[in-house]
Amino acid sequence: MLSNIQILPEVASTMAGKVDALYFFITAVSVFFFLLVMLLVTFFAIKFRRRSKDERPEPIHGSLKLELLWTVIPFILGMAMFGWGAVLYFDMFTPPVEGMNIYVVGKQWMWKIQHPEGNREINELHVPVGTPVKLIMTSEDVIHSFFVPAFRMKMDVLPGRYTTAWFEATKPGKYHLFCAEYCGTKHSQMTGSVYAMEPVDYQDWLERESVATLSMAQAGEQLYNQLGCGTCHAQEAEPRGPSLYGLHGRAVELLTGNAITADDSYIRESILLPAAKLVAGYGPLMPTYKGQVNEEELLRLVAYIKSLNLDTEDSTSESRGGKELKEHRNE
Ligand code: CUA
Repeated sequence: MLSNIQILPEVASTMAGKVDALYFFITAVSVFFFLLVMLLVTFFAIKFRRRSKDERPEPIHGSLKLELLWTVIPFILGMAMFGWGAVLYFDMFTPPVEGMNIYVVGKQWMWKIQHPEGNREINELHVPVGTPVKLIMTSEDVIHSFFVPAFRMKMDVLPGRYTTAWFEATKPGKYHLFCAEYCGTKHSQMTGSVYAMEPVDYQDWLERESVATLSMAQAGEQLYNQLGCGTCHAQEAEPRGPSLYGLHGRAVELLTGNAITADDSYIRESILLPAAKLVAGYGPLMPTYKGQVNEEELLRLVAYIKSLNLDTEDSTSESRGGKELKEHRNE
């Protein structure tokens, strides 16, 4: 009968069991010491009760042994919790290199999701089991938080920057998705479902639902051409603008003399606030594209610029969209 009572959410990711184990350890230690202290308080209250009016207890002058004991044991337990927690934290916040990227935009009050292949969904996320999935997330308005209890995964989604989180689903099924940061009137309705599927079913789903004929990178390329980005950013560096080929993930030397790694956030910032981090050798010529592109479109532009790496080097990673794009261009 007890097995019907569910204290914890389902365990459906590689991280879930590890989080639960640490949680159980901390709970067990807390319960053990709570009971120990309560029992001793009761026991001593009875054992050392005052038996007559003029009874005077023996004065106590301390005990080094006792002091050491109740300092060293909690120290060891505290450090064990800290060490264990830190290792798990780094695990949770370091996405594996292999695996797939999925792009998430939160807005009042829905989750908009894009797959590199071009599939888009709202308040639903389809993923394959057994593959690490990295979420690249941002918000169009206020702070939201992407929370999937069955995966023990929660990450704030902030306006104006990208946050990432990752998980690897282990069990096919449908799981709750919540917004875990109060974000306005309909915060409680900002929910959805994550569908973990067998890889074959996921491929089927991708193809079946593929209403968008363009991959994210291809849609990004289209937008890139519409906005005329190519006028200044060609394959070879031009006096007006640096080349974007091979840019993603590379160190960029800035006008200030500092270097920065060209990650998703840097590319996004350079589109919206071009003068913020000028590349060495270039002046503040680029106009801002703030107001002309929304967050979803920005993610597509980022996906396109990432895909340009595949043209310059023999990279096997990144999105399938990028590879398709390459084939498409070679035709
Ligand atoms: Cu979005 Cu709460």
